[in-house]
Amino acid sequence: MKDLFDKFYKNKGPLGKWAEHAEGYFVFPKLEGPISNRMYFMGNEVITWSVNDYLGLANHPEVRKIDAEAALEYGSAYPMGARMMSGHTELHEKLEFELADFVNKESAYLLNFGYQGILSTIDTLVAKDDVIVYDLDAHACIVDGVRLHLGKRFTYKHNNIESLEKNLQRAQNVTEQTGGGILVISEGVFGMRGEQGKLKEIVALKSKYKFRFLVDDAHGFGTLGENGAGTGVEQGVQEDIDVYFATFAKSMASTGAFIAGDKEIIDYLRYNMRSQMFAKSLQMQLVKGALKRLDMLRKEPVFKAKLWENVNALQNGLKTNGFDIGNTQSCVTPVYLKGSIPEAMALVKDLRENFGIFCSIVVYPVIPKGLILLRLIPTASHTIEDVNETIEAFSSIRKKLENGTYQSISQALISASK
Ligand SMILES: Cc1ncc(COP(=O)(O)O)c(C=O)c1O
Repeated sequence: MKDLFDKFYKNKGPLGKWAEHAEGYFVFPKLEGPISNRMYFMGNEVITWSVNDYLGLANHPEVRKIDAEAALEYGSAYPMGARMMSGHTELHEKLEFELADFVNKESAYLLNFGYQGILSTIDTLVAKDDVIVYDLDAHACIVDGVRLHLGKRFTYKHNNIESLEKNLQRAQNVTEQTGGGILVISEGVFGMRGEQGKLKEIVALKSKYKFRFLVDDAHGFGTLGENGAGTGVEQGVQEDIDVYFATFAKSMASTGAFIAGDKEIIDYLRYNMRSQMFAKSLQMQLVKGALKRLDMLRKEPVFKAKLWENVNALQNGLKTNGFDIGNTQSCVTPVYLKGSIPEAMALVKDLRENFGIFCSIVVYPVIPKGLILLRLIPTASHTIEDVNETIEAFSSIRKKLENGTYQSISQALISASK
């Protein structure tokens, strides 16, 4: 008889198989020092391009002060219990009211974590008779939410409206039989490749097909739209997004998330969403911290302006130096690489060791098989000097990429591991 764990020794998974060469360096690296444009990696200062602190609020003195004061006042427990039972407060309600107002929705509901929150939102929105149609490149939390669904689900090709329409027709055929409805899910900004979801084109299909639209705007909230109200506002279709989701883990530099929509829908979710009904409420320190951050988003557009100054400088510099940054329409800056994963590892090591540039490599299963990209996240805390130094480093590594330097290093690495 097989032991349950046997398989783990034979196959460590698509990322686990690189552990021997990658652990502590490419994966599970320890970035030290306060979150900022420059941090420490293995004792050396590096320009940090892999932290989603878009607006540079993580280490802002006013934010740190509020976080610290709230921790002192409330500790990390208050309030205890789920919102429905004993974990509800005036400030939770106030934050929800302000978030709803900020993203132009009637009502909002706080979630403890983005990942479990959206997963549970999807679970709550659909019943067995309903059909989900979602983008093939959707974040793992959406995929896991869809996995809970007992009815039919269809994927459409990434950001491909023709494919979406085909799948809406399939979904419609199913719902004509079951009597259910259709939920379409897209990201506002796709977090790895940086493209905006085609929200405008998607909502245009509402005139032809009956569906409800859920948008995960983890990367659009705070970075796009007026004051950072998100991708729906940026594209002028916020009203047609039925359930809007964003996390505090990026622009808000914190933990927690929320959903927003019409009051009746949010009320239904409040009374039925298992991840919130059966889990402890968001702690007060995070609620007070989020109120402060939201206030800064509203009143200090300077952070978003600085972010975009850095985004434009970095993206233009990379393009001018011949790097392929794909079709990004957001702050997320991918650099697509040809070649093998070991080659990319050699390149990233060179960037870290010899140029003091810290960015991450992204491969399958985070992105589709066969793609390799470096992912750079500009923030408002970067300076133009950081950008220029990075562009210079990239133009130096480009020569090595072209003359096969990294390929030879990677072959040595592969042979050594045999
Ligand atoms: C698109 C997207 N949705 C949801 C999440 C999950 O958010 P959280 O970190 O708050 O759990 C992330 C985080 O990486 C994300 O990128």
